[in-house]
Amino acid sequence: MRLRAEGLAHAYDGIEALGPLDLAVESGERVAVIGPSGCGKSTLLAILGGLVRPSRGRVLLEGEPPRGSLVPLAYVFQDFALLPWRTVEANVALPLEDRLGAAERRERVRAALARTRLADFARAYPRQLSGGMRQRVGIARALVVEPGVLLLDEPLSALDAQTRELLLEEMLGLTAGATLVWVTHHLDEAVRVADRVVLLSARPGRVRAILPVPIPEAERGRPSALAELARLRHELWGLLREDARRAEATLGAGPADAGA
Ligand SMILES: Nc1ncnc2c1ncn2[C@@H]1O[C@H](COP(=O)(O)OP(=O)(O)O)[C@@H](O)[C@H]1O
Ligand SMILES: [Mg+2]
Repeated sequence: MRLRAEGLAHAYDGIEALGPLDLAVESGERVAVIGPSGCGKSTLLAILGGLVRPSRGRVLLEGEPPRGSLVPLAYVFQDFALLPWRTVEANVALPLEDRLGAAERRERVRAALARTRLADFARAYPRQLSGGMRQRVGIARALVVEPGVLLLDEPLSALDAQTRELLLEEMLGLTAGATLVWVTHHLDEAVRVADRVVLLSARPGRVRAILPVPIPEAERGRPSALAELARLRHELWGLLREDARRAEATLGAGPADAGA
């Protein structure tokens, strides 16, 4: 599904947090959004997902303003955002509540759990799962609505390095062909998952640069792709470095791991 943001800007209580910026994501395209801490990445995603109403500008899906409660967008959160008192299957079923018939709901949940290899944990509670499994629940909950656009806000940032690598590979398979906007702190992650990387400036985040990743996704895990990916990463870090340094000095909090 095609997604556009036009003249998007947001202020919290008069403090400019984002934009103005324009963004166009084609159907089936994967866009990574990167930028210094506090530049408005989460705000951008929340606006795209309809969770926050922008101060200025608008979002268009297939050329139209999103309407109704069946907006075909799904979210994956950094902290998983699971309800601890609900089982895995009840968490995954959440976005379908009051929608579809009971039989179709059950079938969708079953299929989403199977795809994310959680079928055996349907009755478990989030506290009984590892971090990687919890995020697989978060992904299943996003896939269950069969979204036209998938919005991911640092989906791997709460995980250790090896889990991150494993889940990244798994997510690339699960989201093949999907239109997605993937916010990340990690440059390596950005050049691995995206067709284009959008780099935002320091707050209020504006589009500073857009870099295409000219290597087919399937080849990016190969040694032959390493030099080109490293070159891209180096170029991105060159553009980001000063903003990241300033953000780190002014915020004084939060992980400044963009160079890691
Ligand atoms: N609910 C809020 N109320 C007030 N300020 C906020 C709120 N959410 C975010 N901000 C501020 O807006 C700016 C952008 O935040 P955010 O979108 O979370 O940035 P990022 O995800 O890039 O780190 C930051 O300065 C942040 O402190
Ligand atoms: Mg954020």
